[in-house]
Amino acid sequence: MKHAEFVVCFLLLLLLHVGAQIRSNGRWPVPYRRFDHRPDADSYCEALYPFCPTGDRDGRIPDMKDSDVISVYRLQTPVWEFKYGGLMGKFHIMHDAIGFSSSETGANFTMEWYELFQLGNCTFPHVRPEVYPPFWCNQGAACFYDGIDDLHWSQNGTLEKIAEITGNQFNAMAQWVQDDNRTGIYYETWTVRSDPGPNATVWFESYDCSQFVHRTFRKLTDLGAKLSSRSQTNYTKIYLYSGEPKYLGNDSAIFGQPALKNLAVDIRTFYHTFRPHQSFTDFTISLLEAYEKIVLDKSFYLYYNFEYWQLPMKFLM
Ligand SMILES: *[C@@H]1O[C@H](CO)[C@@H](O)[C@H](O)[C@H]1NC(C)=O
Ligand SMILES: *[C@@H]1O[C@H](CO)[C@@H](O)[C@H](O)[C@H]1NC(C)=O
Ligand SMILES: *[C@@H]1O[C@H](CO)[C@@H](O)[C@H](O)[C@H]1NC(C)=O
Ligand SMILES: *[C@@H]1O[C@H](CO)[C@@H](O)[C@H](O)[C@H]1NC(C)=O
Ligand SMILES: *[C@@H]1O[C@H](CO)[C@@H](O)[C@H](O)[C@H]1NC(C)=O
Ligand SMILES: *[C@@H]1O[C@H](CO)[C@@H](O)[C@H](O)[C@H]1NC(C)=O
Ligand SMILES: *[C@@H]1O[C@H](CO)[C@@H](O)[C@H](O)[C@H]1NC(C)=O
Repeated sequence: MKHAEFVVCFLLLLLLHVGAQIRSNGRWPVPYRRFDHRPDADSYCEALYPFCPTGDRDGRIPDMKDSDVISVYRLQTPVWEFKYGGLMGKFHIMHDAIGFSSSETGANFTMEWYELFQLGNCTFPHVRPEVYPPFWCNQGAACFYDGIDDLHWSQNGTLEKIAEITGNQFNAMAQWVQDDNRTGIYYETWTVRSDPGPNATVWFESYDCSQFVHRTFRKLTDLGAKLSSRSQTNYTKIYLYSGEPKYLGNDSAIFGQPALKNLAVDIRTFYHTFRPHQSFTDFTISLLEAYEKIVLDKSFYLYYNFEYWQLPMKFLM
């Protein structure tokens, strides 16, 4: 299958391709950290929409008979379309998922990976008066549930059969999904690169619904499945362009040391501007504010693997 990453937004207009000093010593991109188990989410974090309301409470995935033939579907739909003055027209973000249907039972299922507490909470933390480090509600997880809502996916998006697999392949994939879900616990909105060109260094990869779909397709291929798609898929990503990131440290290193008080205050102030918001519209405005602020400050504090990095941002000014 041919995947093209394509971002449909105005950001490129704002950002200048500064000649980057690319250092390719294998350190980049920073590997996404795996955990040995998923902790319970803090009770401070509240979901606007409950996570995975119709999925099995314990994330169980039904066992398929090996004799079964399971069809695999690629599912994609726009999350939202938002117009911001005449400046950018459409800001198009796609949501990706995978569908399965059993030829023996006729049952079908949808599997997707998304934020427990909505996108805003995964992108910006809460700066709380009573807690010194910015407080993140940034878990993301896999949700497997009965049914495929054909209309939802096909009307403005894509519902395409891409493979047939055996019951054993499905069961092996299900085991992998549960391990992946237990060890990959947080959502990352941003993809950070040195520039928009094809030879850019990728400093940080996002960890989101489309990455989950990619991982699952790779796993199915490893298990011997043949995947094929008629059309090219464009995955939306939210990019930042920066020079080489500088490692700062984790919460206790930064917020627990009087010597780093200035840095701690700076990070709190930075994130205070971008509080998580209730609605997608508010989130989009916050995103636009973030870009404006970045243009002014040429600096961004990225939280990745529960650690902070400073990004020297690049701009058109
Ligand atoms: C983000 O988290 C806060 C605090 O838990 C919560 O009040 C808010 O509803 C969450 N935002 C969304 C969009 O769910
Ligand atoms: C993934 O983890 C979440 C959070 O614990 C859980 O609700 C969900 O059921 C799990 N999904 C799968 C497929 O294991
Ligand atoms: C999934 O099952 C529902 C209910 O039987 C059916 O309406 C729908 O067409 C099925 N979708 C796919 C992609 O198999
Ligand atoms: C598809 O888009 C149209 C026009 O924007 C909208 O009215 C409709 O509700 C959308 N359908 C689905 C299933 O989201
Ligand atoms: C990218 O790298 C390749 C191989 O080094 C080179 O041929 C190509 O011109 C480069 N492209 C750009 C846009 O720099
Ligand atoms: C994907 O992007 C390419 C290049 O911009 C475009 O030609 C194509 O129509 C897009 N495909 C879909 C399915 O949106
Ligand atoms: C934070 O970083 C310090 C030193 O860099 C390390 O010793 C400590 O274990 C880390 N704490 C957590 C919770 O990861």
